[in-house]
Amino acid sequence: MVTEILKNVWYAVALSSEVPVGKMKAFSLAGEPIVLARKKKGEVYAIKDICPHRGIPFSYGQMIDDEVECPYHGWKFNSEGVCTEIPSLYEGQDLDCKKIKVKNYPVIEKQGLIWAFLADKSQTVDLKQTPQPPTLPTLPMDAQPNLIEEALFPCHIDHAVIGLMDPAHGPYVHKSWFWRSSKSSYEKKKKFAPVPFGFQMVRHQPSKNSKAYKILGGQPTTEITFTVPGVRVEHIQIGSRNVYNLTVLSPLSEKETRVISMLYWDMPWLSLIKPVIEAFAHKFLYQDLEAVTKQQDGLKFDPSLMLIKDADTQAKWYYALKSEWQTHQSEKRVFHNPVQETELRWRS
Ligand code: FES
Ligand SMILES: [Fe+2]
Repeated sequence: MVTEILKNVWYAVALSSEVPVGKMKAFSLAGEPIVLARKKKGEVYAIKDICPHRGIPFSYGQMIDDEVECPYHGWKFNSEGVCTEIPSLYEGQDLDCKKIKVKNYPVIEKQGLIWAFLADKSQTVDLKQTPQPPTLPTLPMDAQPNLIEEALFPCHIDHAVIGLMDPAHGPYVHKSWFWRSSKSSYEKKKKFAPVPFGFQMVRHQPSKNSKAYKILGGQPTTEITFTVPGVRVEHIQIGSRNVYNLTVLSPLSEKETRVISMLYWDMPWLSLIKPVIEAFAHKFLYQDLEAVTKQQDGLKFDPSLMLIKDADTQAKWYYALKSEWQTHQSEKRVFHNPVQETELRWRS
């Protein structure tokens, strides 16, 4: 039950802090090697990390005056991916280096993450008509996360996404004294609604067996939004204060998915107990990692799998959204969200 990695969408490839000013770093996106480079004034760009001359990755080289210099023969490339200099050329030689180009990826930097657009060459798209990297409404655009947890899931992005959105694994995978045990499961009933390119568990008071929310005190309410290709935003409100948990999934290849989970808050006192929250967040994500890692032992045999109502309905929506994303593009029509407003019930 894995489907094609979506193209013509933005993926969060890196944390802003991973690419310092004047430096570049290698990443991977859907099997393509890319190098992210940051100019002196702070702007980030992304080009394919393979020199078109003889194939060495640019990321082994250095940045000179905002350009990438290949470590093998010193060819230089600018942020558009255009070659600007070939040092071995003699005066007056008939070779226009500007005609040599490597693929360049549109980049957006938002709230501490660098997003790259993975284009499908066979289609032209309006970048504005694609699912956008999320904005956290009550925080400034350049707000940096207060806490970051990340993990490399050894699986296809589909399994990583449906594993993280799955409401029924909680009591089994996330059991722990400070979280909950499988004995304390209750029937849950949650309202869902479509949002552009995704769906939302509408704002509600968290269940009584979700101890993590208790740390926040007050009367928290939460709203969870998922959008393709793999972006989950949970927005917790306590009075006028806010906590966001932004989880982004980015496919390094068919078999590896980078999961970055970030917390942002505007409650100064939360920073005092940051080590506690960090321990929570780390344990939680690594429990998921452990489950999908074990799952690979079974998936090797390519079994046929099941999605049941209502616990797996969100996973069904995920596949339906992906499929509609591809179909509307190939048919060159508007996107029709396959999700209907509804209520889902499950025990967890
Ligand atoms: S391989 Fe890059 S300049 Fe020759
Ligand atoms: Fe989980």
